Amino acid sequence: MQKHYLLSILTLLLISQLGVAQTNTSTVIYHLDSAEHQISKHIYGHFAEHLGRCIYDGFWVEEDSKIPNQGRIRTDIIEALKELSIPSLRWPGGCFADTYHWKDGIGPREDRPTMVNVHWGNVTEDNSFGTHEFFELCELLDCEPIICGNLGSGTVQEMAQWVEYINSNNISPMTKLREQNGRKEPFKIKYWGVGNENWGCGGNMTAQYYTDNLRRYSSYLKDYGDQKLYKIAGGGYGDYYDWTETLMKDEKGRKSFDGLSLHYYTLNKTWAKKGDAVEFGEADWFSTMTKTLLMEEHIQKHTAIMDKYDPEKTKGLIVDEWGNWHDSAPGSNPAFLYQQNTLRDALVASVNLDMFNNHCERVKMANIAQAVNVLQSVILTKGNEMVLTPTYYVFKMYKVHHDATLIPHQKKSASYTFNDKKIEAVHTSCSKDANGKIHVTITNLDPNNGQVINCSFEGATSMKALKGKYITASKMNDLNDFGKKETIIIQDFMDYSFKKGELQIKMPSKSIVMIELEEK
Ligand code: AHR
Repeated sequence: MQKHYLLSILTLLLISQLGVAQTNTSTVIYHLDSAEHQISKHIYGHFAEHLGRCIYDGFWVEEDSKIPNQGRIRTDIIEALKELSIPSLRWPGGCFADTYHWKDGIGPREDRPTMVNVHWGNVTEDNSFGTHEFFELCELLDCEPIICGNLGSGTVQEMAQWVEYINSNNISPMTKLREQNGRKEPFKIKYWGVGNENWGCGGNMTAQYYTDNLRRYSSYLKDYGDQKLYKIAGGGYGDYYDWTETLMKDEKGRKSFDGLSLHYYTLNKTWAKKGDAVEFGEADWFSTMTKTLLMEEHIQKHTAIMDKYDPEKTKGLIVDEWGNWHDSAPGSNPAFLYQQNTLRDALVASVNLDMFNNHCERVKMANIAQAVNVLQSVILTKGNEMVLTPTYYVFKMYKVHHDATLIPHQKKSASYTFNDKKIEAVHTSCSKDANGKIHVTITNLDPNNGQVINCSFEGATSMKALKGKYITASKMNDLNDFGKKETIIIQDFMDYSFKKGELQIKMPSKSIVMIELEEK
């Protein structure tokens, strides 16, 4: 007996010393009987800024390009994004938005003035991609456009006229101009950002100064016909709780905005030295995961402030910039924010999407930064080649949650421990779609150890599992590269079973699993 005891202690010691893989156990209870709130599909939105190679040499190709395109918009990108059913696309920035003057980007292209993109490498912007081209792109993608207007360096009149140009059906100089430029019918836009990061690149304003400006701009952003605007106020970053407090306090009883934005990027290290996107070890993995999980705290605290002034939750929290921000790829223009994308990025995407799902009562939209060739992209291009990143496959796997009803859960997660620090290894969300199918998504952040997850479903008579899918790789920094077969894709997953009404999932280390179920 004593010998056995000693042996067990020695084995445990060996495991902790050598990092030998073990399997941990976690439990989750999904409350089918408390399903109430809809997960807006707009949580799965994207962002395209005039930055680096996102628009130019990304979505938008040269006039005489051999790359297949439709009116200069790259066909393979459209097809890939349509596969994701992308619900919405935010444009033209970002910091670029608060330097952008929309009238420079309409009319005959040869007459459009150029400008210098001061935030992103001082490159010359030829304005060949403007309002009409953006709506054409959204039509091809069959997604909702989101425009972020210029409050930082523009005027009230300029922003008001942009909305009029897009949405109005009246006889007016703006609608005549639109018609002259080839579009008789209004384009129709709902989502409108009133400035971007106005505490920083959008004018370095105080919260009160921005709030006063928001009131003024908002007064002149009109609804035209049956097209109602959903105005998104420029919100804070991460833990800028005072910003939210100031805006929400002022908004009580008025209607200057419908949604309040929140930006938060996951930085493994610091703004000055963010760390390599591909060459990293477990310390970087652990720190990235720790930092990304702070999103939960930010959402909870901003939500608490919003709840204080808006208990009916009439206003949405709009996480319109999020994702991993690594050092720009070696050899690329540092101002272009081009980075590769590994399994680490995939897991950051899945846990964030789970957090947004779980907070869908308040989080009404999110836009990962950015769609193509910038930061945590779902698509990378090089010449005529295109790569779908590990993050792309997470968005594909999570399509099941679009507009589905959230099934809340309680969990007891095993820990993922690194150098005496701990985070929860298991993160999940669950929803029921319009056809009654239930989808559970679970991430195991532990790069060394598998997980046995015991799931029960409260409020269900009996359940059956229909299929499983998963995303993983053998190494933390595996990636999909140009000219090579994609290694990180969605694969069939079989390692689950029902035991006494409990779903047991055996997850590999560093993986994301989706199980589809239905009630029998
Ligand atoms: O996405 C890159 C930049 O990050 C955006 O332009 C800005 O809003 C944020 O700081």
